[in-house]
Amino acid sequence: MRLRTALLSVTALILIQGGAFGQASSDIASPGNVKTVSGQGDLILRGAKLYQRRCAACHSLDQNRIGPKHRGLYGRAAGSVADFRYSPALQRLNIIWTAETLDIWLKNPTAFAPGTAMGFRVTDPDDRKMIILYLKSVTDATDRPDQPPPH
Ligand code: HEC
Repeated sequence: MRLRTALLSVTALILIQGGAFGQASSDIASPGNVKTVSGQGDLILRGAKLYQRRCAACHSLDQNRIGPKHRGLYGRAAGSVADFRYSPALQRLNIIWTAETLDIWLKNPTAFAPGTAMGFRVTDPDDRKMIILYLKSVTDATDRPDQPPPH
């Protein structure tokens, strides 16, 4: 069991380091760093892997793609990335992204914000939990003294 967990973490690390996270990979790929964030390092790493598989086709942490960039999402208002063109449905969604609101959103975005441009659902509650933990761990670059400020 311990070995399996360790192997999963290692696989996640390799995937992330070889993946499309760009600058973000250095933060997430350091297990020590992740563990000090929340004590839930393994779940966060699994969330990162799920994020890369399910979300990275449309999202990245630091660049708007089909969907808005995600770094610093946790705790900020929905529809608030300044240079992303949201649907009116998301602009009207007057909420803060927390574990609760993200869980409802990821379960069924079109039910939560009818008319939204995101139709992708995550049906498994455990998968949603790990993805949300990962998003929570990915704080804004300006919060980290070791990172240059974004321009
Ligand atoms: C097929 C493309 C696609 C996929 C896959 C996708 N999204 Fe999205 N996402 C979007 C689009 C487009 C928007 C903007 C929605 C709008 O403006 O109505 C969005 C918006 C969001 C928002 C709101 C962000 C904000 O700034 O308010 C969150 C949170 C989000 N997505 C999370 C996720 C997560 C987590 C996954 C993976 C489980 C995911 N998305 C997968 C396309 C996608």
